[in-house]
Amino acid sequence: MRLKTSLAALLLGGLAATPVLAQDAARLHQRALAATCANCHGTDGRTVPGSAVPSLAGMPKDYMIQQMKAFQNGTRPATVMHQLAKGLTDEQIESTAAYFSTLKR
Ligand code: HEC
Repeated sequence: MRLKTSLAALLLGGLAATPVLAQDAARLHQRALAATCANCHGTDGRTVPGSAVPSLAGMPKDYMIQQMKAFQNGTRPATVMHQLAKGLTDEQIESTAAYFSTLKR
């Protein structure tokens, strides 16, 4: 009985906390995905001045989404981004673009 009660309490507590946890998890996913861009685009999407790779920090969301789509469908020729972009879903592109657009250049 006690186990059942604790279990019920745990479940209820879990349900109450779900919206916050889901939001935290989504933010973590967003940042983890954005971190995969850091190898080439710099920490937090900021490249050093004069870099051949463009900075992503502060890039307008709609512009980034457009570029990612263009890389995916080949209308924008690229050396690496066409391959990377093809590995991302619309949701991932949207989320990453939203994230970088909030960062200061
Ligand atoms: C292996 C290195 C590499 C990684 C990793 C990488 N990029 Fe790129 N990115 C480039 C290069 C190089 C270019 C220039 C276009 C080209 O030649 O592919 C570029 C260009 C871009 C552009 C166009 C910028 C502009 O000014 O028009 C966007 C947007 C972009 N990358 C987004 C991303 C995102 C988002 C990620 C992470 C999911 C990412 N890139 C990961 C190398 C990389």
